[in-house]
Amino acid sequence: MDDELLVQSPVSLPTERPAGCPFDPPAGLGALRAERPLTPMRYPDGHMGWLATGWSTVRAILSDPRFSARYELMHHPLPGGPEGPLPPAPPGDMTGMDAPEHTRYRRLLAGKFTVRRMDALTARLEEITTGCLDAMERRGGPLDLVEAFARPVPALMICELLGVPYADREVFQRHTAALMDQNSSVEEMRAAWTGLQEYIRALVSAKRAAPTDDLLSDLTTGDLTDDELTGLGGFLLGAGLDTTANMLAHGTFALLSNTDQLAALRDGPGLAAGAVEELMRYLTVAHTTVRSALEDVEVDGLLIRAGETVTLSLQAANRDPERFPGPDALDLSRRAVGQLGFGHGVHQCLGQQLARVEMRVAFPALFARFPALRLAVPAEEVPLRHHANIYGVDRLPVAWD
Ligand code: HEM
Repeated sequence: MDDELLVQSPVSLPTERPAGCPFDPPAGLGALRAERPLTPMRYPDGHMGWLATGWSTVRAILSDPRFSARYELMHHPLPGGPEGPLPPAPPGDMTGMDAPEHTRYRRLLAGKFTVRRMDALTARLEEITTGCLDAMERRGGPLDLVEAFARPVPALMICELLGVPYADREVFQRHTAALMDQNSSVEEMRAAWTGLQEYIRALVSAKRAAPTDDLLSDLTTGDLTDDELTGLGGFLLGAGLDTTANMLAHGTFALLSNTDQLAALRDGPGLAAGAVEELMRYLTVAHTTVRSALEDVEVDGLLIRAGETVTLSLQAANRDPERFPGPDALDLSRRAVGQLGFGHGVHQCLGQQLARVEMRVAFPALFARFPALRLAVPAEEVPLRHHANIYGVDRLPVAWD
């Protein structure tokens, strides 16, 4: 790293979001992006690395094979994380691996997220969404939309994807709900995680013995070990559940707070696909990712040395005015092509088509069923997930009378 630059101005990762707009990224990120889209950053463990905030800079780094995704080469960007490099990715956690391990998982999985399977899932998704909306109607408002809708829809979809039998869904959902509940104690979280791992391990054995038409059964025919399959099952659950649940809940909050945009969506259901891309850009719930340089690399005229960690702010990149004019407005008619909410490059989200289908069905169905849907508390009282890896809301109290 250039000594002069380092002495002048290493920053820490800005994390404080501006009061008053629960949808905007931390304020300091915008100023950094305008001045230096790639800037030296001091990590909480003392490591001197970098922070990338500009859209083209973030994109360039994510598509450059000279940057590694291996956890054990990275320093944690946030205070309170582990000191020094992180432990290596466990079996199945493909986001923390490089080629050839990563390529092996990616090849095995890519062919499984087929159009045929996504189409089959869409039909089930419509049933699942209707079932959740019926249950909401029976209960009556006010209720917590996270618990009643935003969490069960993706949880049941993961059950479909993995092939969790109907009889087991209650157990599966109980464990996943405890894992995602911010009020769960450490013991409850640990018990839920162990319960889930045991459940997935047993499911893997069952699928090996008697395969059915689902992703996990397909994967048992490959060369993955039971440990790898169990890890992958848990990883897919984590990757697809918290993310989609927060997009559904926080997206609903954003639409209820931007009534002109909500009206446009209601009047033109054909807008749903574009609306989902714009909500992904505007909210960027998976706000940050990290890479480390495997060799010296020049980016934006600056030298990132081998071994240095780079934090990539997907949320800052998605608000870059050079790519998205007027970036702080939610504008559902915008063509948010190139939004980085699903990442970019070889690790780009594998489940993005599924997530898109879920959102394209769930948002219009929710607002069609409850045309008078509104927040049941003042917007300032909605509890935000300020320091979570996936941003969003813990609860979203809504009513519709
Ligand atoms: C709106 C919902 C979602 C968001 C915002 C999201 C976001 C992301 C992001 C940003 C990455 C890249 C991480 C990185 O480069 O470090 C990623 C990777 C991944 N996502 Fe998603 N995701 C979503 C839904 C899903 C779903 C539904 C699934 C599957 C069931 C899924 C499976 C994966 C997998 C397997 C990877 C790792 C890909 C790899 O490393 O090659 N995601 N996701």
